[in-house]
Amino acid sequence: MRLRQVAEDTVAVADTPTGTVLVDATCPHRGGLLRHGHVDRAGTRLVCPLHHSAFSLSDGTQLSGPACRALRVRHQV
Ligand code: FES
Repeated sequence: MRLRQVAEDTVAVADTPTGTVLVDATCPHRGGLLRHGHVDRAGTRLVCPLHHSAFSLSDGTQLSGPACRALRVRHQV
């Protein structure tokens, strides 16, 4: 399981190129629950299950879809 809810507002994404990263639990577009999202095989992008906005897992940049701002991504040290 690559996506795991670890706090009310945080989802952990395992097996990215930089290890496990933490992201907001909800999509910045309309609050899609990102624990139900899809991570690509390389672990570099997360796709929201609701309207399919895609975000970079390195810096949260929106790559496609209707979201209006970047996703907050935190790297563990
Ligand atoms: S809620 Fe995520 S793309 Fe709309």
